[in-house]
Amino acid sequence: MNLKDGYLTRPLEALDELAIRNELSPETKSRIAEIEIHAELDSTNSRLMRLAACDSVPLGTVCLAECQTQGRGRIGRVWHTPPGGNICLSLLWRFNDFNAFSGLSLAIGVAIVRALRTAGVEGVGLKWPNDILWRERKLGGILVEVSGEAHDNHSVVIGIGLNVHIPSDRAGDIDQAWVDLNQITGGHPPSRNQLIALLLDELFLLLPNYPMQGLQSHIEDWRQWHCQAGQRAVLHLGGKAIRGVVSGVSDDGLLLMDCDEGGLRQFASGDLRLRADD
Ligand code: BTN
Repeated sequence: MNLKDGYLTRPLEALDELAIRNELSPETKSRIAEIEIHAELDSTNSRLMRLAACDSVPLGTVCLAECQTQGRGRIGRVWHTPPGGNICLSLLWRFNDFNAFSGLSLAIGVAIVRALRTAGVEGVGLKWPNDILWRERKLGGILVEVSGEAHDNHSVVIGIGLNVHIPSDRAGDIDQAWVDLNQITGGHPPSRNQLIALLLDELFLLLPNYPMQGLQSHIEDWRQWHCQAGQRAVLHLGGKAIRGVVSGVSDDGLLLMDCDEGGLRQFASGDLRLRADD
């Protein structure tokens, strides 16, 4: 161990397929397809989006990378993944019904918080639509992408980025307030392989039932962990800045905002920022 950034840091734990598989629940083990682990990749989501078009690549294929050179976030943002300390996970799934995607990224947020709590990480919250926060700093994010297909089998790639250990010399690359599990746990983050297994267990519990259950089975947990209810915020949408107070989310995952102009409105997209100036 060495002392860095004021925290004891452990030697790096490499991503390891066997270690991940050994931690999976029997149910997940029976469902999961291939687990790819890459030392470096443009983006785990891009990789699975390329594979998604190929019917021979099964639902439940997982792609992990130690480092992404072109990691992607929501709204065309860059997602920085310096080598060797974070989680970049993408999972390929398929749904017959396009409507099954409704609210999915919010449900994935709930699955991530459940996995983190099982790993002993408390105090994690959710920001609409799908940021993982800890004390208003970003711990992780979700990028759900749907691959356009002509037939009835719609592929979806679920991408999860979690900051486990951001090296201090790379922190300047990130243009928003961030935190990593290393800081939250005082230098004792959970094992990445164990945490990946917990994430996969939660995803494999959620996804097979999602077309039947939808967001309904997860929305109360989402609301419980929502950390911006009642706060002033600005929603940036289509070049406009809409000011108001975040009041919550609807049953189908829309943002409910009490707008300074127009009263209570609901939004399906946008970039929500807290207003420190109000
Ligand atoms: C966001 O908060 O804007 C979403 C970030 C999603 C990042 C993950 S990392 C794994 C997967 N591959 C990517 O290129 N993006 C997602």
